[in-house]
Amino acid sequence: MVKITTICCIGAGYVGGPTMAMIALKCPHIKVTVVDISQPRIDAWNSDELPIYEPGLDEVVKACRGKNLFFSTDVAGAIRESQMIFVSVNTPTKKTGLGSGKAADLTYWESAARTIAAESKDNKIIVEKSTVPVRTAEAIEKVLKRNCSDASVQFDILSNPEFLAEGTAISDLTAPDRVLIGGKIENEAGQAAVDALAEVYANWVPKNQIITANLWSAELSKLAANAFLAQRISSINAMSALCEATGADVAQVAHSIGTDSRIGPKFLNASVGFGGSCFQKDILNLAYICECHGLKEVADYWYSVVGMNDYQKSRFVRRVVSAMFNTIRNKKIAMLGFAFKKDTGDTRETPAIDVGKGLIEDGAQLAIYDPQVKEDQIAYDMEGMMGNITCYKTAKEALQDAHAVTIMTEWDEFKSYDWKEIYDVMQKPAFVFDGRLILDHDHLREIGFIVYALGKPIDPFIKSAEGA
Ligand code: NAD
Ligand code: UDX
Repeated sequence: MVKITTICCIGAGYVGGPTMAMIALKCPHIKVTVVDISQPRIDAWNSDELPIYEPGLDEVVKACRGKNLFFSTDVAGAIRESQMIFVSVNTPTKKTGLGSGKAADLTYWESAARTIAAESKDNKIIVEKSTVPVRTAEAIEKVLKRNCSDASVQFDILSNPEFLAEGTAISDLTAPDRVLIGGKIENEAGQAAVDALAEVYANWVPKNQIITANLWSAELSKLAANAFLAQRISSINAMSALCEATGADVAQVAHSIGTDSRIGPKFLNASVGFGGSCFQKDILNLAYICECHGLKEVADYWYSVVGMNDYQKSRFVRRVVSAMFNTIRNKKIAMLGFAFKKDTGDTRETPAIDVGKGLIEDGAQLAIYDPQVKEDQIAYDMEGMMGNITCYKTAKEALQDAHAVTIMTEWDEFKSYDWKEIYDVMQKPAFVFDGRLILDHDHLREIGFIVYALGKPIDPFIKSAEGA
């Protein structure tokens, strides 16, 4: 079995950066180079202000950078000198052509594979880190073999999907539930490649948590894991609508069902909707694969998970409008949080985008504050709507004279605000719409707020405003 001492990773994003930093930290005997076509991104990785916000990441990068961890735009050079090449490029949903709006766009993956083929002069182990459709390894192998000028070069392809969640990437990477490695374990070379990668992880992950599988199972497991996680959120969000209609409390329902060890307590937080770059994209991709195999009913089952998520976001908008006497035209609505979850500055597919657009369509003036998301990112996400949006550097400014506040992200700091002080500077009646169930609703009501908390019994004030 080949002993790995040089690794490179193509793609210095949310996955490539933290994952490679962790390998460098735990494997001081391995030289790790992370490469990207984006010069600004690499410059940021080499600076004091990393391109992504992730608790604990700065410390890990600082401990290794310049020693055995390097960030560079020299993709070709890194490929040539590495025995093992991770590919962690983006695989977004296709925007045009066949499978548009559903299938994964493998343009970046294929381009990386072509560069690997062109630059490889000796055997390489290629590790799929990106989330890809089932049987991508087969296609990639063809691209590699047919574009490499030296027929003696052997490429062993592994699938090693990443399960980290943003905001907790460093703790997830430090102590993963499991590491999954898929390979051609039916042949000797394939098994040796799997063993080589397993040995890298064994520097810090207990061996019994390093699972091996065949390539197709590993690829599919990643899509399945994200689909199952998202399905739990859509299930509890579906319950939140029923709770509001019946006077039940979704937090109590979640607690009650979560204590059944077969169900378990995690991922049962009702919310304004799941966001992030993975869930929707991966479910659509999974459903598209089902469709391609003629499994319409299976595809429809998974599409409904995304459908429920869309329903939850539009339901939230409708509730804001109806509670505020059916008109929010020219009302200042403060939006606390814009990131898709706390402890990240990432806004990809954040529910705040759809909710924000819905509120603006009804004429609202949005006042947005997020501790990590910068104004230029919000302007990019809300293109064409910035006439109705002001971004603030403090929550206090966003809340001044606001008619209502919507909680879009579960940032801890929102819980510790002085809500009495906030009430005093808002217009009356002052509304709170808690899309993350993080605030103390009884306390808010004592202060005088009209409170809508997702999945909780509806305030009499709101009921009467809605004519119920
Ligand atoms: P990202 O967009 O943050 O990073 C991808 C990087 O790849 C970009 O910096 C881009 O410039 C670079 N790139 C694209 N083509 C390239 C090429 N040919 N050569 C060199 N660099 C190239 O994406 P991400 O969030 O890190 O996700 C990467 C993959 O990992 C995706 O497939 C995603 O589904 C999967 N994934 C993401 C997460 C997550 O939490 N973000 C978790 C698990 C898996
Ligand atoms: C997800 C998977 O968890 C991770 O394993 C995979 O590698 C990448 O995709 P991520 O999207 O970073 O990770 O964050 P996650 O914690 O899964 O949250 C996704 C979305 O679901 C967020 O918007 C979050 O707020 C929401 N969520 C999560 C809920 O609404 N309720 C919950 O109970 C849990």
